[in-house]
Amino acid sequence: MMLTAQSTKTARPKHKELVLTPWSVQGSLDMPTIDRAEGSWLYDTEGKRYLDLSAGLVAVNLGHGHPTVIRAIAAQASRLCYAAPAFFNDLRAEVAQELAILAPWPEGARTFFTTGGGEANEDALKMARMISGRHKVLTAYRSFHGSAPGAGTLSGENRRWFNEPGIPGVIHFFAPFPYRSPFNTADPAEETRRALEHLELVLTYEDPQRVAAILLEPVVGSNGVIVYPDGYLKGVRELCDRHGIFLIFDEVMTGFGRTGAPFACRRFGVTPDFITFAKGCTSAYVPLGGVIVRERLAKYFDDHVLGCGHTYSGHPLAIAAAHGAMQAYREGGLYERALEIETWMRDLLGGLSQRSPLVGDVRGLGAFFAVELVRDRATREPLTAWQGTSPGPLPAMLKTLRERGVYAFGRYSVILITPPLVITRDELAFGVDALAASLEELAHTL
Ligand SMILES: Cc1ncc(COP(=O)(O)O)c(C=O)c1O
Repeated sequence: MMLTAQSTKTARPKHKELVLTPWSVQGSLDMPTIDRAEGSWLYDTEGKRYLDLSAGLVAVNLGHGHPTVIRAIAAQASRLCYAAPAFFNDLRAEVAQELAILAPWPEGARTFFTTGGGEANEDALKMARMISGRHKVLTAYRSFHGSAPGAGTLSGENRRWFNEPGIPGVIHFFAPFPYRSPFNTADPAEETRRALEHLELVLTYEDPQRVAAILLEPVVGSNGVIVYPDGYLKGVRELCDRHGIFLIFDEVMTGFGRTGAPFACRRFGVTPDFITFAKGCTSAYVPLGGVIVRERLAKYFDDHVLGCGHTYSGHPLAIAAAHGAMQAYREGGLYERALEIETWMRDLLGGLSQRSPLVGDVRGLGAFFAVELVRDRATREPLTAWQGTSPGPLPAMLKTLRERGVYAFGRYSVILITPPLVITRDELAFGVDALAASLEELAHTL
């Protein structure tokens, strides 16, 4: 539907009056009214354009309006919009087959489809519990795994607090964070060693025989794009093997080319037992997520009930979008394109830290980077206390960034630079220039 001049004018107040926006105090909301999008750009109803520097919520990996995905959705819409999940279906099988190929297990894999990432994490935990007969699950404090009561409890960070007391059996631990070490060391190798020692101690106190799974983002996403130091993920895998604990990788953000590989586990060469995914699997065009289960575990459900189910499990429109998206990733060489983007990121964001003293740390890999802002580079005093009661000056700074034609999202002191994988170097440079100008403006207000 084309918006008329009148509906364009009324859309903003009407939205503000009637729509509840996630994770926000509603009264102060002030966002553009987005009308359409193409490639790496969003357009509002006034015709102003914004570079989508965070790919939505690290999800629109193919950029907006990719014709292969749109054609796949349109073709499916006229063929079959819905069939109950129990029915067999050609595209469901095709997508599951492709996921088994992208996954790291030579033995093969099967997929259970969900509507999004949080649901996928809850279902992965349920499967780990059913197969192991154990109950507990360990997740990192600096993690986000979803927001409904189950997944919200799995999340370690403060969005979990809204769920408390939450579901039982979830235990949190500290994982490495080289820039702000919870283990009091500046040496990454020592960070890895101490973090593994800490995890082992937590396991001892919880009784490893009662632990079904450890759930981890292979690269921490919305909690600051933390790349774990060498050896950590491998060490966690070894701990899991020693105690018969399943390792679940939450690849909701890291999947589908974000780190320069179909899944981050393949980039790091560490193999989990379950992979959860969402976001990039359809480039976020239609909601879809799922759990990929290695064949040796999936077999368990050949003679046991799989106690998971959703009305929209394997929804045909979402599956068609995933089918089209995977074709687009393959044909465009996009699973690996982030390796090229990574070189631009290092160059341009390295330049940004020279241009602005507010940049304390630039970290990431692939097309998955964050800039952490500080008030003092030497002391690393953060721009805003992490998980403090105030969001600090970041929201106002992101607003000035939008005025300069760039959308990005962030929390407290961290801005995520996670563009669509189709971004050009010139577009990225435009985004980083706008960021530099907004940081300069912010510096004057501090
Ligand atoms: C790592 C990770 N896991 C899970 C989720 C939750 O996914 P969804 O919002 O689709 O439930 C998110 C959302 O941002 C995420 O970043």
